[in-house]
Amino acid sequence: MASVQTLTTIIELLSKRYKFDKEDAIAFLAKEKLLPKRFIMKEKVTPAFSSTNTKIKARVNANDIFITPLKLSKTAITMIDCSSTDIWYDPFRNNGSYYNQFPMENTKLWSEILEEKDFFSFNEQCDIICSNPPYSILDRVIEKSIELRPRVINYLLGVGNLTCKRIEAFENAGYGLVKLHMCKVYTWFGMSAIVQFELNKESIISFDRVVWR
Ligand SMILES: C[S@@+](CC[C@H](N)C(=O)[O-])C[C@H]1O[C@@H](n2cnc3c(N)ncnc32)[C@H](O)[C@@H]1O
Repeated sequence: MASVQTLTTIIELLSKRYKFDKEDAIAFLAKEKLLPKRFIMKEKVTPAFSSTNTKIKARVNANDIFITPLKLSKTAITMIDCSSTDIWYDPFRNNGSYYNQFPMENTKLWSEILEEKDFFSFNEQCDIICSNPPYSILDRVIEKSIELRPRVINYLLGVGNLTCKRIEAFENAGYGLVKLHMCKVYTWFGMSAIVQFELNKESIISFDRVVWR
């Protein structure tokens, strides 16, 4: 059995190599009962799922940078029916894994806070929003995306981020969930889903807001 020190070193090395949050990994391993009790006691780990969620919610921008594999951003882009006059907008461009693959003939717009172009200050007309947003400010991102009134909003989300409350916020604003592509990204937490909302369309799924007991 590996010592606590060895386990800590292994987790640290892996988190650096694969760029994931060490604390999230420890909380996840503890929840899955993959860590010995003496490790949990020494490191004072709280193995609750909610603690991981709370930490993710509390992340600052630096930790919100997750680069989407190029083929997955392409999958998102090809889900969208568009015409050559549509204006595409990537609010969270980073290295351009979405933006660079938007159709060549269309007008393309972008924001990226690291380049001092803040999504929340963007007020241009656009028809299609397509990107992988920062999850720690997702409610504000959804609110602002809806305010811009594009025809299509296509975002890559963690499956846990697709809550009924958020789908309802879209529906109340006239957007239906028309496409959903489930996927798994290496080293990202849980499953992901590309979700596509369209203005004046019916949702393909049903849900309720009851907390069932
Ligand atoms: C999850 S990453 C996605 C990067 C890229 N779109 C991709 O999928 O590979 C989110 C990006 O949003 C940027 N970001 C965070 N807050 C922002 C804001 N208020 N305005 C514009 N960009 C922001 C971060 O710097 C980060 O590059």
